[in-house]
This record gives sequence, structure tokens and C-alpha cells, in this order.
Amino acid sequence: MFWTSQALILGLAHLAASKPFSSQSKRWDDFGVKHAWDEVPRGWELHGPAPTDYTFDMRIALRQDRFDDLVTALYEVSDPTHERYGQHLSKEEVAALVAPHRDSVDLVESWLAAHNLDLASSERSHAGDWITIRVSVAQAEKMLGTKYNVFRHGQSDEYVIRTMNYSLPNVLHEHVALVSPTTYFGTMKSMKATSFIHEGGPTIQSDPNLARLTGPNSLATVPSSCATTITPSCLRALYKTSDYTPSATKQNRLGVVGYLAEYANRADLDTFFKSFRPDAVNSSYTTVLVNGGGDDQSRPGVEANLDIQYTTGISYPTPNIYYSTGGSPPFIPDSYTPSNTNEPYLDWLNFIVDQKDIPQTITTSYGDEEQTVPRDYAIRVCNIFAQLGSRGTTLLFASGDSGVGGGQCLTNDGQNRTAFMPAFPASCPFVTTVGGTTHVSPEVAVDFSGGGFSNYFARPSYQSKDVSTYLTGLGNQYSGLFNSSGRAYPDVSAQAQGFQVVVNGRVTPVGGTSASSPTFAGVISLLNDYLISKGKAPLGFLNPLLYSKAASALNDITSGSNPGCGTNGFSAGKGWDPVTGLGTPDFSKLKKLLG
Ligand SMILES: *[C@@H]1O[C@H](CO)[C@@H](O)[C@H](O)[C@H]1NC(C)=O
Ligand SMILES: *[C@@H]1O[C@H](CO)[C@@H](O)[C@H](O)[C@H]1NC(C)=O
Ligand SMILES: *[C@@H]1O[C@H](CO)[C@@H](O)[C@H](O)[C@H]1NC(C)=O
Ligand SMILES: *[C@@H]1O[C@H](CO)[C@@H](O)[C@H](O)[C@H]1NC(C)=O
Repeated sequence: MFWTSQALILGLAHLAASKPFSSQSKRWDDFGVKHAWDEVPRGWELHGPAPTDYTFDMRIALRQDRFDDLVTALYEVSDPTHERYGQHLSKEEVAALVAPHRDSVDLVESWLAAHNLDLASSERSHAGDWITIRVSVAQAEKMLGTKYNVFRHGQSDEYVIRTMNYSLPNVLHEHVALVSPTTYFGTMKSMKATSFIHEGGPTIQSDPNLARLTGPNSLATVPSSCATTITPSCLRALYKTSDYTPSATKQNRLGVVGYLAEYANRADLDTFFKSFRPDAVNSSYTTVLVNGGGDDQSRPGVEANLDIQYTTGISYPTPNIYYSTGGSPPFIPDSYTPSNTNEPYLDWLNFIVDQKDIPQTITTSYGDEEQTVPRDYAIRVCNIFAQLGSRGTTLLFASGDSGVGGGQCLTNDGQNRTAFMPAFPASCPFVTTVGGTTHVSPEVAVDFSGGGFSNYFARPSYQSKDVSTYLTGLGNQYSGLFNSSGRAYPDVSAQAQGFQVVVNGRVTPVGGTSASSPTFAGVISLLNDYLISKGKAPLGFLNPLLYSKAASALNDITSGSNPGCGTNGFSAGKGWDPVTGLGTPDFSKLKKLLG
């Protein structure tokens, strides 16, 4: 408790007069390393030193004082056997649990003042757990005992200002979760370059199954064309949603998260509906611009169109929202143009947690290799997903398209060891991760379906039984290549190949777990419609329900595997597996089970 009284003294000293003590400045120079990379993150190269007078917005994440209580609440409201099931938290209740301790705020403010920063110019998040303040590179280097450089991303030719490592005064370590931008190199563009998407395969210009959509026994059997070409009617037949008509369209909403200069296109959606979902013609979606995101209708994106066409294609007439997340303009290394602190996740997450009403179902088809995201950063982002879940939102993420790992599968911890490569946010225990399948009767695992075990997050109790059973069956195979105590994913799966997507007026075949996540989201959104229309709470965080009561309402996928890293990967089998999770959805069974 030594720091409590110190903080008090400093706080008072700061109030009385901001006269710097020498003893005080010593405290701020007594550094401990917060995070360090052993090598420049792959795909990036050092360009040169950052200009010292360049300014940017530094974001400081304060430790969330009662986060353990938030997790307890999350599990209670998400556990179908608990008396609090469905009693989701309000924005204010969550804010109270994630607010920092007063001591943390005081100490961080003293630190900022000691660096002559104007506290009045700082911005605070609603819960007070983030402080954003504009600093120069020279100031940031002093504050964090580090050196900022300009790095270039080869594939996207993007430049960013980051550090190889950073430190914090030792007194701050237990009060500050992370400072950004520092060692997380992911940007919207670099992430886009690895977004989970596959193009290629057969196309059809109209849907041969539409005629069978009306009348009794409509689409009671899945058309054989769905083995190679997927349309909304295939998914509605396969996952048994075609007989359901949504009615809670005033309250229920489905959100699609998009990043950077990739826009969902309205004309393409019209064309898509005409060919593949004629009853939805004349309907559309709403675009919400986040942090300077755009809506350029002359630049349709494959990912954005895939996502919006297949969420609406299943959930129509449920209102869909496309979040177009921007960011500051990119840094241009040789001119003094604006700051670039845009990082995926944080911009959108900080926006959405501040909303009073959040869509009940949200899908995201982007991700990184877990090891490229600093552990502290991944933990904080994952914590925000827990906040959203506790408020009653179901978050779905694509599991990745590289099986157990793509490329060389080498660790970046200085050891350069061969290992499977889990993906993030897929590995966060507070989201529902969706793997991929293909073919019909039977549906099998698609060979690129991302699956594995986190090195950052321990296995949550909701999946411990299913995962132990799987590991027992696996025996020693692959031991040393993955962390058997980690959070295992995917949780569930859905079709991932041959999706007919209209891009720039033309039907394009697209695949990837990028297709699976919006598909699963569409089905969940219909279940939320059903619950809401009966006056019940939406599903919220799904996993405790999926791994218990709902497991029998999923189609277990028992064949296929996800090769990668020079191995055959994991195999799908009876029960949960790290290729297809618990299986694909059966809407009619799920609906029945939810009563
Ligand atoms: C931090 O990175 C610099 C190179 O940018 C290196 O010289 C230094 O040793 C690193 N420190 C730690 C603690 O890794
Ligand atoms: C769409 O709008 C047009 C023009 O208003 C109308 O003729 C058509 O019937 C509408 N289609 C549907 C499916 O509602
Ligand atoms: C890791 O190993 C690969 C392949 O052997 C090699 O190309 C790479 O330079 C090594 N990286 C480091 C940091 O040692
Ligand atoms: C394995 O997972 C555990 C639990 O999440 C974690 O504490 C540990 O650091 C991981 N091991 C490695 C080598 O990453």
C-alpha cells in the first residue's frame, strides 16, 4: 500500500503548485520494461527515426479496478442455469466495474503533469479507463524511456510510428495496462492484407433454388447445387431458417464491423437481392461512420460486400448496420502531415462501448496472428469484448483461413521455434469464434478452417470438459506445437466456400471463414429476433450456452482436418474439435430449445 500515500502526497503537491521535486522526477525515471519485441515484427521494416517534434495522440489504458467482478457478472448473465441469466448490464453498470481506482488516476495524472502535459487537454473515456493526450515524439520518448521510429509495412506500403519496446515508471506498472501507440504494429491496412478471404471457384448468375422457397416443405432438403455454390437459400435450407419470419425489427439489429477503405455497396446489394433474395429487394442497411470512416460507393469491397450481403441475406428484414471504421490519415514519413495512431480494434471498440444501444449481434471478419499482438494489448481488447458481452451482445469472429497456421509458423520470441499459430481475436475467451465447413450431406470441415489454442488466454471453464475430451483423444500428437492449457477455438462453424457475392455488379465466388462468421451471425440474429419478440432477453455472450444446453442443437461435423505448419493439422471428429468447434447451427432446434 506504499503507493497509496505517495500518490496522495503527489496529488496534493500537484494541486498546491506544480513545482517539480527532484525526488518526484526520480520516481518517473525509475523505469521497468513494459513490453519489448525481440525482432522487428514480420512484414515490417525499419525506415528511420521518428521526427522528434511530430505529435500524436497517446492513449493510456488504466487498470480496470473491478474487472474480476465484471467477468463474474458476465458469466452469471450468460449461464442458462444461473438465476441472473439474461439480466444484462447497462452501460452505466459496466462503466462502474471498469472504472480505474482513484489512486491510479491520481498517479497517472501526476506523471503527465511531471512531463508538463496539460491535463485539461486530455480526453477521458466514459468510464475513465482511457486517457488520451496529445504528445510529441520527444515527450513520449522521455515518458516511456524509449525511442520511436518510422516503420514501413512492405505489402501495403504503409508507414507508422512505433517502438520496438517501451518502459513505464515502476510505480505505474500496476496502474497502467498499456500505452498506445507503442509496440502493436497492426494497422487497418496491414490487417486487411491478411483478412480472411478466398476468391475463386464456380459462379451462378441466379439462384436455381428460389422456386422452391414457397409452399409447404419449402427447402426441406438442401439443394445439391449448394455443395459448390452457396446462396442465401442454401444457408437458409441448411441451417433451417427459411420458414422463420422476423418480427422484432424495431428492436433487433445486426452489426457488421468493417475497417479502412473497404465499403459495402448499395447497388451491389440491390443486384444481389434481385438474383438471390428477391423478397428483400428495396431493403438496405445503415452505414455508421466511426472515427472518420468513409462510405465511398465507387469502391465496393469484397469483404464488406460479402459480409453485408450474407448477413442481410439470412436476417432480412432485420435492420443491419455496417460500421465503417476510419482512422487518421496515414503517416507520410517525409512530410509533416497529421498523426497516425489509428489501430484496429481500439477505434471501433472505444466508439461502441460508449453507445447506449448496441446491436444484439455483431460480426467481424478480421484478425491477426496472436503473437503479433502484444499480450497486454490483446488482454485489454479481449476485456472490452467481455464488456460488450455483459451488455447482451453476441460477438462473432472468423477463426482464420490458415488451418493450424500459415507460412513458416516460427515463434517471434527470439527462439524462432516451429509452432502452430493461433489467431486473435479468435483466441479471446469472451467472443464466439466461427470456423469453416464445405459441402452438404454431409457437411465437412473445410481444410483452411483456423483452429487451435491460445498462448495468451487460459482455457475457460465453459469449454474445459469438451476440450479435455478432445485432448485425451489426441494423445501426444503435436505436443510442443501448441499450448494445451490455452483457450481453444473455434467454438462453432458454418459454410466457408463458394459464396456467390456481387462485387462491382458481377457475381464473384468468395470463401473463407470471413463468410462463416456473417453466416453464423445471421442465424443468431434470427434467434435474437425470436427471443425479443417473446419479450425475452437476447442471447448475449453465447459460449456458456453453446457448450452446455445448446450443443445438441448444433450439427456436429465429424470429418475433415485443418493442415498447416507442415502438419496434417487437427481432425474433426465426434464432439468439439479445433477445426469446426461444436458444429454448425440448426435454427429450428435452437429455437425450440430456447422455448
Ligand atoms: C529496445 O530496443 C532497442 C532498439 O530499438 C534496443 O537497443 C534495446 O536493447 C531494447 N531494449 C529492450 C529492453 O529490449
Ligand atoms: C421495389 O420497389 C419498386 C418501385 O417502387 C416496386 O415496383 C417493387 O414492387 C418493389 N419490390 C419489392 C420486392 O418490394
Ligand atoms: C528464423 O528462422 C528462419 C528460417 O530458418 C530464418 O529465415 C530467420 O531469419 C530466422 N529469424 C531469426 C530472427 O532468427
Ligand atoms: C500457455 O498458456 C498458458 C495459459 O494461458 C500461459 O500462461 C502460458 O504462458 C502459455 N505458454 C506459452 C509457452 O505461451
